[in-house]
Amino acid sequence: MSDEPTLRVTVTRQEPGEAPRDETFDVPYDDRTTVLDTLDWIKDHAAPALTYRSSCRMGVCGSCGVMVNGRPVLGCETSVAGYRTSGITVAPMTHATVQRDLAVDTDEFLAKLRGVNPWLLPAPAAPAAPEDDPAATVPATVDVLRVHAQTPGQVKAYQGLSQCIDCMLCYAACPVLDDVAGFTGPAAIATARRWDLDSRDEGNETRFPLLVENEEGVWPCIQVGACTRACPKGVDPARAIADYQREAMGG
Ligand code: SF4
Ligand code: FES
Repeated sequence: MSDEPTLRVTVTRQEPGEAPRDETFDVPYDDRTTVLDTLDWIKDHAAPALTYRSSCRMGVCGSCGVMVNGRPVLGCETSVAGYRTSGITVAPMTHATVQRDLAVDTDEFLAKLRGVNPWLLPAPAAPAAPEDDPAATVPATVDVLRVHAQTPGQVKAYQGLSQCIDCMLCYAACPVLDDVAGFTGPAAIATARRWDLDSRDEGNETRFPLLVENEEGVWPCIQVGACTRACPKGVDPARAIADYQREAMGG
């Protein structure tokens, strides 16, 4: 008999249209084993139909979010070594409908993200001077480079917010979404802020009213800060939301 240590892993499983149920497995592990590794082991050795998402296995794609002992984490970045005694319970992310087992429907989250125009909204381009216009002092190509060039300070203004990988952990952690399902949510607001702070972007006049003239925009947030604590990338959605609230009140 192997003397390899095992970890008790309870997985919340659910078929479409059925009630959730827990299944428990004893999974071999060592100091480098992640939550995602345990799910892979279960799928390979005990429950081939176990359904969950993953891709990059390195904290980049944002697809492997799950609840571990009630806390949203990236499965590929979360070591199980600290859970030797308690074991882990792995459940699907909250604030999203379960498709099967640990895979959740991301449509609502992505629709809210799309709703804030999470892309560069540039100022309308000035008509380019003809290449052969002797009166033109700056050729059109050079002018484009000038408009898009940024100082280190301008990059720094939005750099932290640009680290978002849309993993939904903040969305799962947000207690406001327990009561206000329509709340835009921390990730979409942080991403809106990322573009509003970008010196190349002129979209603030579009995004700002979307967030502050909508009672489900920034206003449901009561600054608990769970989103910021949950973020695996150091993004600070709570601060982004507070900044919009303050600006809307003239601060
Ligand atoms: S803000 Fe952080 S926790 Fe929220 S989706 Fe982006 S990376 Fe994930
Ligand atoms: S598998 Fe890509 S972030 Fe975990």
